[in-house]
Amino acid sequence: MFASLLLLVLSFHFVEGSAFEPTLNCSQYSDDRHVLNSLPFKVTILDNSSSCQQNPACARLNAQNQVYDLALDLVPTALQVYCLTHLQSLYIFGYITSGYTWPIPYEIGKLTNLTYLSLSYVDGKDIPETIGELKLLRTLYLLAIRITYITGALAALPSLTDLTLHAPLAELPSFLSILPLNHLGILNGQFTTIPEDFFRNLNPTLSSLTIDISHLVNLGPFADLTNLTTLGITGDGMSVLPWQFTYMTNLKDLRFQGLNCLSAFPRNFTRGVTYLDLSKNCFTQLPAPLLLSETLANIDMSYNQLTDLSTLALSRSPLSVVFLPFNQIQYIPPEIINLSESLSYLALYGNQLTTLPAEQIVKMKKLTGLDVQFNNINDTEKARLKSIFAANPNLTVYF
Ligand SMILES: *[C@@H]1O[C@H](CO)[C@@H](O)[C@H](O)[C@H]1NC(C)=O
Ligand SMILES: *[C@@H]1O[C@H](CO)[C@@H](O)[C@H](O)[C@H]1NC(C)=O
Ligand SMILES: *[C@@H]1O[C@H](CO)[C@@H](O)[C@H](O)[C@H]1NC(C)=O
Ligand SMILES: *[C@@H]1O[C@H](CO)[C@@H](O)[C@H](O)[C@H]1NC(C)=O
Ligand SMILES: *[C@@H]1O[C@H](CO)[C@@H](O)[C@H](O)[C@H]1NC(C)=O
Ligand SMILES: *[C@@H]1O[C@H](CO)[C@@H](O)[C@H](O)[C@H]1NC(C)=O
Ligand SMILES: *[C@@H]1O[C@H](CO)[C@@H](O)[C@H](O)[C@H]1NC(C)=O
Ligand SMILES: *[C@@H]1O[C@H](CO)[C@@H](O)[C@H](O)[C@H]1NC(C)=O
Repeated sequence: MFASLLLLVLSFHFVEGSAFEPTLNCSQYSDDRHVLNSLPFKVTILDNSSSCQQNPACARLNAQNQVYDLALDLVPTALQVYCLTHLQSLYIFGYITSGYTWPIPYEIGKLTNLTYLSLSYVDGKDIPETIGELKLLRTLYLLAIRITYITGALAALPSLTDLTLHAPLAELPSFLSILPLNHLGILNGQFTTIPEDFFRNLNPTLSSLTIDISHLVNLGPFADLTNLTTLGITGDGMSVLPWQFTYMTNLKDLRFQGLNCLSAFPRNFTRGVTYLDLSKNCFTQLPAPLLLSETLANIDMSYNQLTDLSTLALSRSPLSVVFLPFNQIQYIPPEIINLSESLSYLALYGNQLTTLPAEQIVKMKKLTGLDVQFNNINDTEKARLKSIFAANPNLTVYF
């Protein structure tokens, strides 16, 4: 009963959507300005020094008065947008709550000069095959609510190097792996397997990957990504960093999201990482392989279970920005000064510190920021520490 009601509501929207869409006839517009003026809302025209990306309802025109950059909020009925055939970049932001269905219209295939296309909150079920006409497209960002299958026409885009599909895909299509991809983002996918040669085909061109692995039953294919430099993982229930990641020997930037409880790293994990986000995990110590890294400069381990910083002080890494808020840190050893040559910012708010080795910290050469708000440092102690820190005007301490 409830399901059929829902169906009725959905089909009503569909009928409403198509009934009011005008047929596209571009010859009724004398030029691009005429198209802009015909839209049912005002479009701000920017000079070409700033991008439209941050500005909904914004256009930029070239010297011939042709629109080459356009950003719009949802325009389900304003199909004349697809008469702007000089467009090089197009951003459309839809809204789930708008009450309109927002399928990608097949007219998108007219925009053959597009190099950048970003469509958000699309709620149609398909990507029209006409997308295969966009031969110059380099970047495609798609945030879609109901698209579960991807048209094979995407495989016909010879310039596509940056692809993000934020959609509940039922499978990861093999043909995506023949694209010359440099960056791939696959989020909210519902598939459980990665085709066997998928990552092998993308290596070594693929340097950046953002992927939700929470439904995957086998991480084996990740071992093929030996030239990846940037990896963002959304996972669920991981307690150990998968060994497949140890084959990514060029990894520089690794970030985790999701509900994980990582507490250990494989001993042979690459030592070349420079940026590591391990926030919201279960580490009680800094992972030993990282302390030996000769490159690690930025680390975020907020929301873990660290209790003291003794191992951090032993680190040989060139640690510069260290984020450790919301742990249970009670103690900072005076050896923290061993990080004097590199540490520039240390965030420790939301811990259980009662004091700090201020006599050492004040001598740290590079340190310019220390945040110890929301700890258990009493007012008398704060006053004492402040008088010591006053000796270093380069250092700002937030109590
Ligand atoms: C398209 O618009 C032009 C100019 O308004 C008009 O002359 C022509 O008949 C229209 N074509 C169609 C197929 O409606
Ligand atoms: C930017 O604006 C200048 C002057 O308005 C114009 O000559 C130039 O062609 C424009 N550049 C592009 C890429 O449209
Ligand atoms: C596409 O861009 C090229 C070069 O910038 C230009 O010559 C051509 O006219 C454009 N095509 C369309 C359909 O605007
Ligand atoms: C892949 O990585 C290796 C080193 O691990 C490097 O020698 C090679 O140049 C890289 N290939 C590409 C295409 O980046
Ligand atoms: C790293 O160690 C794990 C577990 O011992 C092993 O499965 C994996 O193959 C090793 N990685 C490399 C690159 O040798
Ligand atoms: C850290 O500092 C202590 C005390 O100054 C020193 O004895 C030790 O050798 C240093 N450790 C490293 C790894 O630099
Ligand atoms: C304030 O903190 C310092 C350092 O932990 C401690 O020695 C002192 O007893 C505390 N004073 C009060 C009034 O709690
Ligand atoms: C503060 O920074 C300046 C410039 O970076 C440097 O010359 C100076 O020695 C620093 N002072 C202290 C007390 O570290």
